[in-house]
Amino acid sequence: MQGIIFVLFSKFVRENFDYKHLNQIKTNADLAGKFHSVDQAHPDEELFQLVNAASKHLDIDIGTLLESFGNYIGPVLLTTYSSYIDPEWNSLDLLENIESTMHDVVRMNSPDATPPSLEISRINDKKVAIDYTSERRIIQLGIGIIDSISDHYNEDLVIEQEDIPDGTRLVVTLV
Ligand code: HEM
Repeated sequence: MQGIIFVLFSKFVRENFDYKHLNQIKTNADLAGKFHSVDQAHPDEELFQLVNAASKHLDIDIGTLLESFGNYIGPVLLTTYSSYIDPEWNSLDLLENIESTMHDVVRMNSPDATPPSLEISRINDKKVAIDYTSERRIIQLGIGIIDSISDHYNEDLVIEQEDIPDGTRLVVTLV
């Protein structure tokens, strides 16, 4: 996973809890003193160690923690990639273009990045379906990002989840 995700995870814990918790979480994750540089990829396993340790230490279930973290990184991603966002888009237009625009740009800029391949279909004006089949199985992160997109556009989005082979389908409706 890209270093930016590790850096943002540390920042998320520091800002929402405090740095003492962060130190303890890194120790419990066997990553005390480990520096995750922003400009390269690091083993997924290390992010999972941090998330597991944070979940135990803060007594928050992993799904809720990942969703809050997704909510936290959403605005940063939107700012970083703002030049790829058409100002005419609404929240669903952005979701429709996440794979072909955002995740593709991430892959182009950082060849070692492996964002999930999302199968996205626009069902109608008010509905987008997103099929997520990454081996990482952290769709809650994506749900948190979608929530932040809803806030950014000040548009209400309802997210329904269903299991599909090897993953999850999200059906997002603009209400
Ligand atoms: C502004 C929009 C977005 C940008 C710029 C963005 C960018 C990124 C980046 C940089 C990563 C890390 C990739 C890596 O470390 O290899 C990532 C991972 C991820 N993205 Fe996106 N993303 C965006 C929106 C979304 C949305 C709407 C979803 C909803 C499903 C989503 C789902 C995920 C998930 C679940 C991961 C974790 C990796 C995995 O599960 O395989 N992203 N994204």
